[in-house]
Amino acid sequence: MNFDRIFSENSRNLQASEIRELLKLLDRPSIISFAGGLPNPDAFPIEELKPVIEHVMKEHAYDALQYGPTEGHNKLRDAIAKGMKSLFNCDQEMDNIIITGGSQQGLTLLAHIIIDPGDTVITGNPTYLGAIQVFNAFRANIEAVAQDEGGINHHSLRERLQDLNRRGKYPKLIYLIPTFENPTGITLSEERRKAIYDIICEYDLLLVEDDPYGLLRYDGEALNPIKSMDNEDRVIYLGSFSKILAPGFRIAWLAGPAPIIRKACILKQSQDLCASTFGQYCVFEAMRSDMLFPHIEIIKQMYRSKRDIMLKALDNYMPDGVKWSRPLGGMFIWVTLPLFMDSVELLPKAIENNVAYVAGKSFFPGGGGANTLRLNFSYATDGQIDRGIRLLAEVVQKELDLKGKGLKGEYISAF
Ligand SMILES: Cc1ncc(COP(=O)(O)O)c(C=O)c1O
Repeated sequence: MNFDRIFSENSRNLQASEIRELLKLLDRPSIISFAGGLPNPDAFPIEELKPVIEHVMKEHAYDALQYGPTEGHNKLRDAIAKGMKSLFNCDQEMDNIIITGGSQQGLTLLAHIIIDPGDTVITGNPTYLGAIQVFNAFRANIEAVAQDEGGINHHSLRERLQDLNRRGKYPKLIYLIPTFENPTGITLSEERRKAIYDIICEYDLLLVEDDPYGLLRYDGEALNPIKSMDNEDRVIYLGSFSKILAPGFRIAWLAGPAPIIRKACILKQSQDLCASTFGQYCVFEAMRSDMLFPHIEIIKQMYRSKRDIMLKALDNYMPDGVKWSRPLGGMFIWVTLPLFMDSVELLPKAIENNVAYVAGKSFFPGGGGANTLRLNFSYATDGQIDRGIRLLAEVVQKELDLKGKGLKGEYISAF
């Protein structure tokens, strides 16, 4: 059969995620992988979940095993609304929340509702690969705005918007991960959050604030999401239980303006009818029984220590000329190699030396980033982190010896 004739325009646009493709290659047991973005299985609350699941089966089995309302289990929506108020100072009605099958589904629902082919979407350069995939699938024109050590730069954002407007282009939305960004680990300061919110109001834009890592803070004072400033109802907040409980439940939420929630709900009916009812009951019970928040503290302890082991190993082993972010939370460290190095070219050599990462280039919809790479610190064991960074540093040192001789000034990096 000629499948080229069969595929829709949209499906022709689908691109395999480089990360998923890469993960398939990393089955070799000798490889230490910093490539995936997976939670550590030891951070799954296996024992703590047993009574939670038992309670669901004992008290709510008929409802939990049945289809549920498309917008989600009301008790869970209500608990999330209250949590957003108490933790993030976001005034949120339960009616403005829809439960989704992961934030990834939230992103797809939003793209479906908002983006027509050719519409302009603004992101950071770099940004989350899963969002790039969704925006590409809906044939958006991605305008990626430069980032620096502080994340997306609001001056660059304003300049880009002015330039787009001059060319008759009026973007509909900006997509950002303001806290412990995937891939860089960077967090936007309070000042930048305010400046960005002012800009989105001035330019009549929606902001999609993707926040799966916000509760995984290891140092410093918590910052409220941009959603907490949203007195014009133009921020759509994506929260997820994947990184604070377990991604296997596939339970997340989208909190936003009523017209968006209404459309998302109708669309979701045609996609999956409802998010896993059983998953929603379990997540609600984890919240109700006070299992969830003490568990988040356990995850934070584990990941804080892993981050510190990775930072120390980078300090110990990486040659001069290599820079990296020092994230205050989340799951990723962003490495910037000397400008003349290409992390895509380096990857086979790293894999040969039994260590893997994700080359930064794939996170840059606006191009660039060839000398960057992302390291995940949540998944590997403590011993693997130290050894893996040593193996990576060996590969980088060899590349420096090979290509860096006599070069001066090439170590200046993007950020
Ligand atoms: C920034 C970001 N958004 C969304 C997701 C998807 O998460 P979920 O498991 O809730 O679909 C991820 C997963 O890694 C992510 O890093």
